[in-house]
Amino acid sequence: MRLTYTSDLWYKNAVIYCLDVETYKDGNGDGVGDFRGLTQQIDYLHSLGITCLWLMPFFPTPNKDDGYDITDFYSIDPRLGTLGDFVEFMRTAKDRGIRVIADLVVNHTSDQHPWFKESRSSKDSPLRDWYVWSDKPEPDDPSQIVFPDKENSIWQLDKKTGQYYLHSFYRHQPDLNVANPEVRDEIARVLGFWMELGLSGFRVDAVPFLIENVGDKLPDPHAFLADLRAFMSRREGGAVLLGEVNMPYKDLVGYFGDGNGDQLTMCFDFIGMQHAWLAFARSEAGPINQALGDRPKPPKDCQWATFLRNHDELTLDKLTDEERQEVFDAFGPDKDMQIYGRGLRRRLPSMFGGDLRRIKMAYSLLFSMPGTPVIFYGEEIGMGDNLDEEGRMAVRTPMQWSQSGGFSDAPPVRGIPGGSFAPERVNVADQKRDPDSLLRWFQLLIERYRECPELAWGDNTVLDTGHPSVFAHRCDADGATVVAVHNLCDTATEIDLALEGLDGSVLTDLLADETMEVADGTVRLPMSPHGCRWLRAAPRGDMPPEDASIIAH
Ligand code: NOJ
Repeated sequence: MRLTYTSDLWYKNAVIYCLDVETYKDGNGDGVGDFRGLTQQIDYLHSLGITCLWLMPFFPTPNKDDGYDITDFYSIDPRLGTLGDFVEFMRTAKDRGIRVIADLVVNHTSDQHPWFKESRSSKDSPLRDWYVWSDKPEPDDPSQIVFPDKENSIWQLDKKTGQYYLHSFYRHQPDLNVANPEVRDEIARVLGFWMELGLSGFRVDAVPFLIENVGDKLPDPHAFLADLRAFMSRREGGAVLLGEVNMPYKDLVGYFGDGNGDQLTMCFDFIGMQHAWLAFARSEAGPINQALGDRPKPPKDCQWATFLRNHDELTLDKLTDEERQEVFDAFGPDKDMQIYGRGLRRRLPSMFGGDLRRIKMAYSLLFSMPGTPVIFYGEEIGMGDNLDEEGRMAVRTPMQWSQSGGFSDAPPVRGIPGGSFAPERVNVADQKRDPDSLLRWFQLLIERYRECPELAWGDNTVLDTGHPSVFAHRCDADGATVVAVHNLCDTATEIDLALEGLDGSVLTDLLADETMEVADGTVRLPMSPHGCRWLRAAPRGDMPPEDASIIAH
């Protein structure tokens, strides 16, 4: 495969790392992470191999939804630093070849935003129409309520003017009205502002809410997404929109832009993620086979973003009630581990009981899946959660740098996990020195993923392994093939894999020092408990002489 493709369409095989500046590293000793602290960790991120950072919201905020409630789109939360600190951070990241994208949270503002204060001040306010007001809203459909633990309606009566305002999320997050052209212009201005400061794009929060809350007031809400993308591309050809669209595949594909891919550049694969968890719960490959089989090919130059965990609850809302219960039973049986009736507020390693082999297999699977992997800070060292923290904050605890924590010298902004996931046991410094650590495994996976652009770019095919617990797929691009095999159960097994068109090829295991030959179109693969293999195929003659002699033995 020609690697030149991967520089123009950099995002198609990027490795995206999401972090919250607030909980990553404190640079001024006040217990809150900040841009100065983050900048000091750039070389850590560089050595991990990530190619793109996704920053969770870092704007001024009353912080009632961890920064997803913004009061000023054009500056920095003073607790996290100044615009100057931000620019120095951007400069340093750029120097290390790391791109940066940021959360674009424009479905709503905080109710403390000056726009909303002005809008609610009177029915005649010049900004009245910047938000969505109604005299008598439609009765609520319970399925529309995103946070049922705190809200029982998506409309809130504003006593002063006697009208209701729409809030798709918390009542302190009034929805902006994108049917208003001034609002759309302002959103574009926000994009343009941060792009001038070097951002390579945005993770777009709550996309379906953003474009659908306008009902029929916009003739084609998707045209707004296409306009935003066009605006962004005019300013910077390689910039991307990575969308949060948790919808069934059939409804989701339209968010890439019907057929022509002119809206969101990438969409998170929520369906694939949820089915991966069902597969883990069952120790069976079936649900992954099914999701990957159902997943539409994105339009040209678009891409899926794959993930196992993010900063929110592990949502299982697209599984059936029975399937969700299976995942709850396996990974979060206590009510306190569950949230909103649809998800879990735990990190992967604690759900896997700290079983390192299983954790390594799960991430190997993630990196081998066709798409662009997105990881959440701390996943690379196997951080656990702190269920004493409120709701989703359980998984947003401070990064664990050393045995003493290393996040801050002051009491940290959020409680650090204890027990087997405490910093004494799980931290960057120790894992850097341990060749068998999860951190080293992530470095290897990222290196191999980057060496195998076929995984992200190629045509993928699910392979029949003849074993319910073993998932295998192959990715082919420009005559090159990578085959990945994962054993989801904790017993060793052996499979025979038919590999069409690869008869006589040599397979090199990229995660271990091993090669094997495809004979009669088939290869026999021993799989250890939770074992994983990434196999690069090469015609026998292409093998370097020393490797060829290994095979001869
Ligand atoms: C989705 C974000 O991921 C979540 O954290 C936030 O609470 C809602 N959107 C509202 O912005």
